Amino acid sequence: MKAFVVERYGSEAGARMREVPEPDLGEHDVLVQVRAASVNPLDVKIRDGEFKLILPYRVPFVLGHDMAGEVVRVGSAVRSFAPGDEVYARPRKDRIGTLSELMAVHEDDVAAKPSTLSMVEAAALPLVALTAWQALVERADVRPGQKVLVHAGSGGVGTIAIQLAKHLGAHVATTAGTANVTWVQRLGADVVVDYRRDDFETILRDYDVVLDSLGGETLEKSFRVLKPGGLAIGIAGPPDLAFAREINAHPIVRLATMLLSARPKLRARRRHVRYAFLFMRASGEQLRAVTALVDAGAITPVVDRVFSFESTKEAMAYVASGRAKGKVVVTMG
Ligand SMILES: NC(=O)c1ccc[n+]([C@@H]2O[C@H](COP(=O)([O-])OP(=O)(O)OC[C@H]3O[C@@H](n4cnc5c(N)ncnc54)[C@H](OP(=O)(O)O)[C@@H]3O)[C@@H](O)[C@H]2O)c1
Repeated sequence: MKAFVVERYGSEAGARMREVPEPDLGEHDVLVQVRAASVNPLDVKIRDGEFKLILPYRVPFVLGHDMAGEVVRVGSAVRSFAPGDEVYARPRKDRIGTLSELMAVHEDDVAAKPSTLSMVEAAALPLVALTAWQALVERADVRPGQKVLVHAGSGGVGTIAIQLAKHLGAHVATTAGTANVTWVQRLGADVVVDYRRDDFETILRDYDVVLDSLGGETLEKSFRVLKPGGLAIGIAGPPDLAFAREINAHPIVRLATMLLSARPKLRARRRHVRYAFLFMRASGEQLRAVTALVDAGAITPVVDRVFSFESTKEAMAYVASGRAKGKVVVTMG
């Protein structure tokens, strides 16, 4: 079967489409004929070797973090899925590889595909919807009436986080470029700050939660728009010690995360706000909650461009440009 494989870390040239053996099926696995898979900035960062310390995948390995498709076979212990089921998934971090014709996924990471969505639309959701859910529901426990700032509202994560925060009853602000202001308003944002013209720090104040997908100066400024006790959740970094413990990282990696997050943690403490890093994880259970929200019309995936599987390199280059409006999906036909 065909798959998009990283053979060498460090550049575009090190990843290519090639033939690989079909995956083995464990007793708790579901074998899926992948119909569509999305490309995430995480794929680009892993290909470029930026995550080697935290996620040390050994080359060659198949890239890809979410997909939608049809079950073709199930392991002997699987009871919840059967051949013919339409499903979607973000496989757990040690079993990535959705840019592939066939994919074996642990049943706990899989959910029924929202019936109202096409395969392309469904493939656009798992990683970003789980990220938004884990940030806003699990970590921040957003309540009606709270104020939530979602950075980069036109991005893959932002488009879903805005809709989820509105569904939770929050007042939602977002940052977006001039060309995207109107359509992120249509996604439900109450306040849109055009980051090319204005500085959000001078406009927003007393926020309960910030979801920061940009890091650096944006994260530091985000502390200043939070009310005392408020929470900034960083998904672009820096990683913190709690995360290193969660993934059982080597002591040297733990030390590195402590050092990397020392400055933002200190800045946050000085302003009586909190900073936490989030690295999303697979969860079929949370995906089922997402399915229910989609089928109820509360969340709609936003697909920017669709590429053929053969054009995965081009899809990766478009994601790497950082200009995608919503998600980039490849289809396996
Ligand atoms: N830790 C985790 O679990 C996790 C999970 C998901 C994603 N992430 C990370 O989160 C980041 C965002 O992911 P994504 O999928 O949402 O990325 P994306 O879809 O590639 O984001 C692109 C969007 O960001 C907007 N943007 C760029 N610079 C901006 C700025 N300064 N202010 C406001 N908007 C800006 C762009 O709009 P313009 O074209 O108008 O600039 C574009 O629409 C990535 O670094 C990704 O790796 C982490």
